[in-house]
Parts: sequence; structure tokens; C-alpha cells
Amino acid sequence: MLYLLDTADVREIEKVAEIFPLAGVTTNPTIIAQGKRNFFAILKDIRGIIGDRMLHAQVLGETCDDIIRDAETLQEQIGGNLYIKVPVSTEGYKAMPKLKQRGMKVTATAIYTPGQALLAANSGVDFTAPYLNRIDNISGMGVTVVQMIVDLFRVHNLPTRVLAASFKNVQQVNDVSLAGCQAITIGPEIIWRLAEHPLTTMSIEQFRRDWVGVYGEGKCIYNL
Ligand code: G3P
Repeated sequence: MLYLLDTADVREIEKVAEIFPLAGVTTNPTIIAQGKRNFFAILKDIRGIIGDRMLHAQVLGETCDDIIRDAETLQEQIGGNLYIKVPVSTEGYKAMPKLKQRGMKVTATAIYTPGQALLAANSGVDFTAPYLNRIDNISGMGVTVVQMIVDLFRVHNLPTRVLAASFKNVQQVNDVSLAGCQAITIGPEIIWRLAEHPLTTMSIEQFRRDWVGVYGEGKCIYNL
């Protein structure tokens, strides 16, 4: 499983990257706008923190030509292990194979149905990003959609991977992991919720109390 962070908050990225096995960061125009800073400055700061891990950045252009020019600009300005996120609009589908022909890595995004994902995969994209919680919000059964996309790629022997996005809770993460989804992008709050449990904290405190009761405070094994 590849864990990516769906945020442009550089302090959160720094904290998480230090602790967890982070495969990269994803952004979109909404996420970038929350930073209220220069677009390229934000992406360069993220690149500075994550090094050559994956960075997924989305185009703004809405025509095929504009999408390609946006992608080329991102490639020049940010570079490295970069994935160009392209929404699955008509012009987006048109641009995807052209970006691949130019040697770029592409993530098809804003996916709500298995059909959209299969079309994008046949256009040669590297990842497809279904929006799980937004599908759940319209009673569309997000996990089932992700499961169908994973199965379709396997049945059709397509190398495209599934990068599920839009999560609101850890149960959604557990469900898509079990479905065989290869990658997820989650907000920092979800990765902390995945990692922590009050009983784990209580167990660690109990270990300390039991030790201290017999051997006294402040010991580590290397001090024994
Ligand atoms: O990467 C897509 C994601 O940012 C959408 O998430 O939480 O806005 O539905 P959300």
C-alpha cells in the first residue's frame, strides 16, 4: 500500500514524513488555494520536504492544448518524480495519451465511476483517482466503486494503479485496502487516526508503570 498525503500544508507534511512511510503528496486547486500563497512556491516547498517521492499536481487548463501547456510548465518548474493530475473531462481524456507520448506520468482524477477509470486506463495513465467519500455522499457506495476499478484493471491486465482519494474515516481506508487498492491519499488527520489507539497508549503507560515499580525511574535498556 502506498500512503500519500492529500494536503499542501508543509508543516503537516514535514511532521508526517518524519514518522510514517510516506510515498508522496497529492494536491489539487482547492488544496493549493487553502495555502493562499504562490502556486509554484507551495509545490517547491513540498518538493523540498519530500525529495524525490511522488508529487501529484493538477493542471488548471480546460482545453487539451492548455492542459498540455500546464503540464509542460509543471514539468519545467517542479520536475522530479512528478505526476500530472488531469480531471477526466472530454478534453482531459484527449490530453492524457498526448502527455504520455511526451514522457510524462499522469494521474486521471475526479473519477466517480468504474467506466471513467477504465477509459482513462486505456488512455495509458499511471494512476486513476476515484473520490471515495464524495461517492459515498451520493449513496454511490465508494468502496464498491474502488473494488470494481481494481478488479477491472486486473481482468483487463492493465498496469494502471488505483489511487483512492477523498476519505473521511479509517474504515474507508481499511475497506479499500482489503479491496486491493494499491495507493491511497489521505488528510493528515486520517493518518494519525490510522496509527493511534487509546488502548495502545494505555498499554505503553502500563509497561512503564510496571517497570518503574520494580527498577525505578528513567531507565533504558542501554543504561542497564
Ligand atoms: O484528492 C481529491 C480529494 O482532495 C478530494 O477530497 O475530501 O475534498 O472530497 P475531498
